[in-house]
Amino acid sequence: MSGIIDKAFDHEIFRKSGHQLIDQLADYLKDCKNKDNIKVLPWESPDDLFNKIDKNFNTLSGPASLFTEIISNSLHLHHPNNMGHQVGVPAPTAALADFISDFLNNSMAVYEVGPYSSATEKIVIKWTASFLGMGEKASGVLTSGGSMGNLTCLLAARQNKLEGNTWERGSFYDTQTAIMVSEASHYSIARAVKIMGWGDKGLVKIPLSSQMIIDHTLLEDCYKQALQEGKNIIPVAANACSTATGSYDPLVEIGAFCKKHNLWFHVDGAHGAGAALSKKYKYHIRGIEEADSVIIDFHKMLLSPALTTAVIFKDGKLSYETFSQKASYLLDNEITDNWFDIALRSLECTKKMMGVKIYVLLKLYGEQLFADYITRAYDLAADFANLLQKQDDFEILVKPSSNILCFRYLPPKKCKFSINVINQKIRTTIRDEGNFYIVQAEIKSNIYLRTTLMNPFTTYDDIKKLVVEIRRIAADLIL
Ligand SMILES: Cc1ncc(COP(=O)(O)O)c(C=O)c1O
Repeated sequence: MSGIIDKAFDHEIFRKSGHQLIDQLADYLKDCKNKDNIKVLPWESPDDLFNKIDKNFNTLSGPASLFTEIISNSLHLHHPNNMGHQVGVPAPTAALADFISDFLNNSMAVYEVGPYSSATEKIVIKWTASFLGMGEKASGVLTSGGSMGNLTCLLAARQNKLEGNTWERGSFYDTQTAIMVSEASHYSIARAVKIMGWGDKGLVKIPLSSQMIIDHTLLEDCYKQALQEGKNIIPVAANACSTATGSYDPLVEIGAFCKKHNLWFHVDGAHGAGAALSKKYKYHIRGIEEADSVIIDFHKMLLSPALTTAVIFKDGKLSYETFSQKASYLLDNEITDNWFDIALRSLECTKKMMGVKIYVLLKLYGEQLFADYITRAYDLAADFANLLQKQDDFEILVKPSSNILCFRYLPPKKCKFSINVINQKIRTTIRDEGNFYIVQAEIKSNIYLRTTLMNPFTTYDDIKKLVVEIRRIAADLIL
């Protein structure tokens, strides 16, 4: 064997660099928590960072310096001032579980090439269906992200509700098939609709109420209008919660509407379905138990590294129909209720050992870990909103229902910038300076600053400091 292959697989070199890496990451975690000499985002323009890395591409280096380069040039999610996107802050042991999974690399398509991960996936799915209250018959799969999850559910809706077998016949319809969705749905729903070949006309958008949720009083009118336009509505997709504002659609009313018209009820719970685990906030997802399909991302509010999305069907059998396909080299049967050859029911063939990290977290800490984490994050967003409501120079868009909050700075009357421009400038200055990380959202042509309080170490004091930071930046800009 060549020396280089020996070196790449040498167990003593691996042991040494592995120990070094764990030490490095443990120190990094401590520094993040203490905010010791570490910015949230070491901002450099994309070209500058690319050129810096590319310059040394042809020089071999040792693992320690390479690991340092990776850590120091990344966004630091574990920093308490990280308040930007809905990216999960992984519990360190979940990352360790992913590390074992990556090392073992069992590919999951069929049971034989992933026995432990297939069995733990079933356990994770069963637990998820149970905390969502979806009933004894519920079942599903884990897949690579919410976008893939939404597509999987909508394919199942199509297969189940359209006459005949679309999977075999192809997507040629006599009438325009369509979905009713919130105006605030994640773009992956529209993308799934386009993938299914339903086009722009396949999206019927339901307007939002002032609370930024589906106005359920408009459901009947939207439906009638769609029918008059010759559309065949198949699913309705609700948010639990929405991406931009973190608001929960009225699931009870939407579920009843779907039942009345025999429509597939899909809930995109990628971010917020975990609220089911919090005694205090589970009321937000009341009605989810009636959904035909639900997705939930563990890599958002369930402390796991990307990617793991649970796709749960109320009638677990339907998940076998979605991708009914022969592949004699891998899969034994066409439609079958064999639960353990997971490629029968997922878009992926090879996939990561997704359930293992969730199983590890449950075994180490129990579901209380998630309950406490979600309750704390939602409480903090409510406290933040209360704080801002007491300030004359800030306004919030809507009271938060989750840990996502949209708000904006209100400049003095004589400011040379419009409200939109100053808020945009505040957001980019914050990103460039790197002391905090927040993002922005455009809602009804207004620019809002947007925070998602994902970090379990962010405190009320950090939030007060963000307000001070925004005022300082605004004052500099206005000068
Ligand atoms: C409500 C909602 N659905 C779906 C998605 C897509 O999930 P993923 O990024 O895992 O594909 C997101 C991502 O932000 C989301 O907020």
